[in-house]
Amino acid sequence: MSGGRLAIIGGTGLTRLKDLEISRREVMHTPYGEPSGPLTIGQYHGHEVLFLPRHGAHHTIPPHQVNYRANLWALKNAGVETVLAVAAVGGITQHMTPGRIAIPDQIIDYTWSRHHTFFEGDGDDGVTHVDMTYPYNEGLRQTLIAASRELGLGAMERGTYAATQGPRLETAAEIDRLERDGCDLVGMTGMPETALARELELCYACCAVVANRAAGRSEGLITMEDIARHLDSAMGRVKQLLPLVIKRCRELPAP
Ligand code: HPA
Repeated sequence: MSGGRLAIIGGTGLTRLKDLEISRREVMHTPYGEPSGPLTIGQYHGHEVLFLPRHGAHHTIPPHQVNYRANLWALKNAGVETVLAVAAVGGITQHMTPGRIAIPDQIIDYTWSRHHTFFEGDGDDGVTHVDMTYPYNEGLRQTLIAASRELGLGAMERGTYAATQGPRLETAAEIDRLERDGCDLVGMTGMPETALARELELCYACCAVVANRAAGRSEGLITMEDIARHLDSAMGRVKQLLPLVIKRCRELPAP
């Protein structure tokens, strides 16, 4: 995908990259505060990878308190050009069933009061507006899709991600509204992460893992136990997918 370094941001269910042969951990301080933890750097199936667990090493940072700016800035500053974001989501539309991998191609931001931009109008650049027509890097998305096909993982190859504020789950009526808006998936971390990645000109795509049917889309209530169980089985497939995606990224010429 590019000559720069490659990073994985791990979400719920992926706080550690088991096969990463760690060579060092880098504690980064940024103008925006502290990232979710040190960058863990090592060899992953023969390729260098930087790993950052979005919610911290012990999964203690809730979605609305993640320092997205510090995370993205730290990666950029470490020379990262490609970011694979792994994220747990709820499935809204019919085919977004628990355990399924989805590679979204669109996102709608329903979050509020998060630090969502690097462009506060206080720099030399004046007012800056980045294009977000296609929020994810299409080359990286296609690499994820091709790898998933090769492995027969049956990933959903497109979908609109609804980024909600959390940390509570949604009401059934909120999910109905998100579906009317055209959303297929719902998660709490896609924004501002996706927009900040674009502001830093990072090549960014999301590998979403459906942890549960969204509120009102299945019998009964959503339990943390159900989410953990589905994530656990789906992460096995994510861990198959990631090494192949990274290998393919390294084979491709820079865009
Ligand atoms: N809603 C929002 N975020 C989520 C969900 C959900 O149902 N499941 C996992 N992350």
